[in-house]
Amino acid sequence: MQRKITNIAHRGASSYAPENTRAAFDMAINMGVKHIELDVHSSKDGRLVVIHDDTLNRTTNGKGNVADRTLKELKALDAGSWFDHKYSGEKLCTLEEILVEYKSAVYLHVEIKGNTPKLAQKTCDMIRDFNAIEKTIITSFWKPWLIETRQYAPEIKTGWLVPMGPGSEWNDSIISDSLNHRFNQICPRADLVTPSLVTKLHDNGFEVRCHGVFTEALMENVVECGADGMTINFPDKLISYLKKKGLAID
Ligand code: G3P
Ligand code: CA
Repeated sequence: MQRKITNIAHRGASSYAPENTRAAFDMAINMGVKHIELDVHSSKDGRLVVIHDDTLNRTTNGKGNVADRTLKELKALDAGSWFDHKYSGEKLCTLEEILVEYKSAVYLHVEIKGNTPKLAQKTCDMIRDFNAIEKTIITSFWKPWLIETRQYAPEIKTGWLVPMGPGSEWNDSIISDSLNHRFNQICPRADLVTPSLVTKLHDNGFEVRCHGVFTEALMENVVECGADGMTINFPDKLISYLKKKGLAID
C-alpha cells in the first residue's frame, strides 16, 4: 500500500492567518487540507473555547486568563488584529461551532490545553453529541487528560504529545506508559524524531505524527524518518513537498 502522510493544519494555516480562527481553518481547507488541529480551554461559564494560550494577551485584544472570562466576554474580543488588521473581524470560536462548521469537511485534532476540572470529559461529551467520534482525535501534552479520555470515552482516539517542554528529551518510558494506557498515537517533537524511533513506535502499534515542525527542514525530516503525519503551520508547503516526492497526502 502506498505510504500516506497526514497533513494537519496546526491551529489552521497559522503561518498565513490568525491561529485557531475560522480564517485560518478556512484557508487550510482551501489549500486542500483534510485535517485541522486546534486547542481547547474552558471559559469561566464552562464553555469550550478554541484558543492556544492560557491568557488572552497574545492572540486577542483582551488581557488576563481565558478561564476568568465568560463566553459572552470572550466573544466580544478581536482575535484577528494582532496578526493583521485585515483580520480585525475574527472572533474566538467554541468547539461546538467548529464541530458544526467543519466536521463534515475535515478531521479534527483537538488538543486539550486548559486545566479546569473535567475538561476532557466535557470535550468527549461534545464530540459524542455531534457524532464526531470517527472524525476526531483528542491530544494533549498533559497525560492525565488522555487518561481521563480513555476512561470516560474509550471509543475516542488519543494521541500523546511528547516529550513535555521544549528542552526535554525522549525517554522510552513514553512507550510503556502509552501501551499501559492504550493511547493510539504518539506525537514526538519533530527535532528529535529519527527513523529508528519511528520504527520502534510502529512496532509497538502506534501511529506516529509529529509536532513542533517550525521549519521546512524539520518538515522534510519528519517525512524522511517515516512518520505518518505532522501538524504544520504551512500545510501548503507540505503538499508541494509530498507531490514532489510522489507521496500520497491524507
Ligand atoms: O501538534 C500539537 C501541537 O499543537 C502542540 O504544540 O504548543 O502548538 O499546542 P502547541
Ligand atoms: Ca496545539
